[in-house]
Amino acid sequence: MSANSTYPRSRRFIPAGPLKGRIRVPGDKSISHRSLMFGALAVGETRVTGLLEGEDVMATAAALRAMGATIEREAEGAWSIHGVGVGSLLQPQVALEMGNSGTSTRLLMGLVASHPISTHFTGDASLSKRPMGRVTEPLGLMGAAFETSPGGTLPLTERGLSPAVPITYRLPVASAQVKSAILLAGLNAAGVTTVIEPVPTRDHTERMLKGFGADLWIEEQNGERVIRIRGEAELKRQTIEVPGDPSSAAFFVVAALLVPGSDLVIENVGLNPTRAGLFEALRQMGGQIEELERREVGGETVADLHVRHSMLSGIDVDPALAPSMIDEFPILFVAAALAQGRTVTTGLEELRVKESDRITAMAEALRLAGARIEEREDGLVIDGTGGDPLPGGSEPIVTHLDHRIAMSMAIAGHASRTGVEVDDTSPIATSFPQFEALLDGATAN
Ligand code: S3P
Repeated sequence: MSANSTYPRSRRFIPAGPLKGRIRVPGDKSISHRSLMFGALAVGETRVTGLLEGEDVMATAAALRAMGATIEREAEGAWSIHGVGVGSLLQPQVALEMGNSGTSTRLLMGLVASHPISTHFTGDASLSKRPMGRVTEPLGLMGAAFETSPGGTLPLTERGLSPAVPITYRLPVASAQVKSAILLAGLNAAGVTTVIEPVPTRDHTERMLKGFGADLWIEEQNGERVIRIRGEAELKRQTIEVPGDPSSAAFFVVAALLVPGSDLVIENVGLNPTRAGLFEALRQMGGQIEELERREVGGETVADLHVRHSMLSGIDVDPALAPSMIDEFPILFVAAALAQGRTVTTGLEELRVKESDRITAMAEALRLAGARIEEREDGLVIDGTGGDPLPGGSEPIVTHLDHRIAMSMAIAGHASRTGVEVDDTSPIATSFPQFEALLDGATAN
């Protein structure tokens, strides 16, 4: 069970000066989930370094153990996985507790869909509100059967079919989780499964499955990405080095841009183009973000990011950038609140079904911190302070069990005059347990 719903912990984040020195953020959450899942389906021992040891990834590990994989922690970030082979996941004897993690839930639902087992998925109050119809619909076409709670949400029971029926499916929402769920079910389908992606989303599943030896190929047709995978696959053991998470680095990049006198290097940040949209948007706003020592780590581009305090200007954020920065809008809104002029964001309906409704949650939280915000159905319009700190406020902002709201408002407090009270910091442990220690350390230099 994740701690966040049980032990709320409030904290007031106050201005504590410039961010300096060098820091390293933990491993990428998306890649960490996938390392464990694909390792659990491979034959032999997969070894992973740099694994994110946050609650969400631990929920994935526990579920895979319950389905027969052997997963052991050897040292900090260093894990060993003995897989069972595609088609050989075992019937779990317990409910799969997903905590706060949408990625664990939706990707594991894909895995279970093509195995002859029955599983019960449960989650916390945030996850239990999130839509699952987007995965039960295509997985149902592949032969899986579901009993969901009213509204198609968790708790739910799934019964898989082995081998599953291959399908061709055009994604109605731009979602890497839906794409991945179908491809994972396709690993044990009787033939070729095809996913058509009108708007490209993060491609870690495709890259990593190829690395594990799956027969997966990608074509471009009429401007759409067409991904095909051959079923009844055999995955081979891998050695994986997980790069630092750009979605975690994002909080420190924005903090260093906003706080005068900051000069910070964030080491080993993953810069996969399907994830790096925030850095592009911040550069368009005038942010000084320099990439040092660009290199390849585990099939992904990484670099050290050198960030200096910058005067930011408001922009109209190109909605085409949204999929490559989908988790970064809460912290982009904070950057916009201190920029000069107006920032307009559009096309962000998906933010309403994340760990919280991130459009309303951030509008309310930033208003409490003294920012000027207009909420629209598909985004926020923000009039910045022109570089002055936000006023801050005494009324606690509401996190809604959403780690990214908590971390974004911690940075807002840091860039304010009087501080920001965050009602509950415990959800931060789902993705970035070291966040507060790293923030306190970078400002103590
Ligand atoms: C993720 C995909 C994204 C993202 C989430 C992680 C993944 O969700 O918001 O935090 O690892 O595939 P969607 O697939 O819903 O866009």
